Amino acid sequence: MPSSLNPTALARLLGSWNSGALPAYRELADVVRLLVMDGRIPLDVALPSERSLASTLGLSRTTITAAYASLREQGFLTAGQGSRGRTSIPHRSTPVSMPGLAAPEGLLDLAYASLPAAGEVVHRAFADALTELPALLPGFGYDALGIPVLREAIAAKYTADGVPTTPEQILVTSGAQHALNIILRTLAGKQHKVLVEHPSYPNALDAIRTAGSRPLPVALPSPDAPDSWDIDAMVAAMHQQRPAMAYLVPDFHNPTGRLMPDHYRKRLARAAASSGTVLVVDETLRGLNLDGGAAAPMSAFSPAVVSIGSLSKSHWAGLRTGWIRADAPLITRFVATRTTMDLGGPVVEQLAAARLVRSYAEPLGSRLEELRDNRASLLELLAEHLPEWEVERPQGGLTVWCRLPTPGSTALTVVAPEFGVRLAAGPRFGVGGAFEHYMRVPYTLPPAQLETAVKALREAQDKVGDSPQLRRSLKAEERFAVA
Ligand SMILES: Cc1ncc(COP(=O)(O)O)c(C=O)c1O
Repeated sequence: MPSSLNPTALARLLGSWNSGALPAYRELADVVRLLVMDGRIPLDVALPSERSLASTLGLSRTTITAAYASLREQGFLTAGQGSRGRTSIPHRSTPVSMPGLAAPEGLLDLAYASLPAAGEVVHRAFADALTELPALLPGFGYDALGIPVLREAIAAKYTADGVPTTPEQILVTSGAQHALNIILRTLAGKQHKVLVEHPSYPNALDAIRTAGSRPLPVALPSPDAPDSWDIDAMVAAMHQQRPAMAYLVPDFHNPTGRLMPDHYRKRLARAAASSGTVLVVDETLRGLNLDGGAAAPMSAFSPAVVSIGSLSKSHWAGLRTGWIRADAPLITRFVATRTTMDLGGPVVEQLAAARLVRSYAEPLGSRLEELRDNRASLLELLAEHLPEWEVERPQGGLTVWCRLPTPGSTALTVVAPEFGVRLAAGPRFGVGGAFEHYMRVPYTLPPAQLETAVKALREAQDKVGDSPQLRRSLKAEERFAVA
């Protein structure tokens, strides 16, 4: 592989890049970036010197300098020796153009609670998966249940966690959100009630509403209350309202980061059985146990529990691999639903996922350490810069749930991009406009970026605070995706 690119070769790759629609340096930087992302310019290759490229392309040197500066700023070029930077991809891969998903360039994303891939482990799993692929190529490639090695690995992980499980009890899905949609379509029809913690995970609430079901919110107690879940209210809601399903996040609840104690789990499992409610527990964040709190998986308390898992937070959301654990007859019903949407997951991803599940804990040590540091920084920064916010210390997961001194979460979210930050407003986590008093802040960014973000939040909060008029008039936020 060449370690440098000469100007003629680059000019050939660029083709007719200059449409004149934008300043030349921008267009040049955009095309080089696309070439790097496409792999047509390899990584770690020195680009031509500014002078030689300017003369080959017939442009001023200033234009090339500005284009290279822009590439450097976006992370596509290293600082390099002199002006000869080498191609690279941004370290934190803020995707460059994914409308509705990533924050626009230049914004710090506090709407997404997600981490980059867990080091080399994910890459290695894919490389190894490719070596196993030939053995599967003679097959059709369709497997609506998931490939056997992955189902075996997931079942073995549950068994090792104290919940004996066979591969027949596992359905592999394209992530936890996909799993929830399959479950909703199978178990909760139109107008059926689905009990949820309040607040809860926004995409789950959206999925419940989109399925035509009705979320039945049960408030979580405030952080200073003696109980972290109001189990009496949940049990009463199950018996009185007879929801078809309960969707719960007992393991590092999103957004509060709480961990449900075992005796609550036991009571809920019993109440669900007697009220005919299917208990669906989302264990997506279970691996992110920051304080070493102990709690058995909810499925340890009843064979009727339906569990959702995912590699998105423990390893990488880009794997798009999750699963459902349930009893085998229910899995058969879920497969029937699944095949109305898709016919199975991609095989290479599943092979990679099987390797990751088999050595599940491998990347977690350093991931948890980094998250603990980030959490400590965020808590300190919030105490220093936003002392009027009441902040709940999470036991795990990725986010801090904060109570604002006045309702104004949506206004803050609308104003925040002016200060360089993208947020998800409190009401996204609730039903019927609740939680204007709250803001979720993830600690997924490194401490230096968290500092910038919290200072920006301070400024945005001041702008909203100085103008009650703004608070009243800014009711709607842009509905972009959150995670
Ligand atoms: C509680 C919870 N469930 C599900 C998801 C989505 O998981 P996946 O990427 O596997 O669809 C998230 C992501 O933030 C989450 O926090």
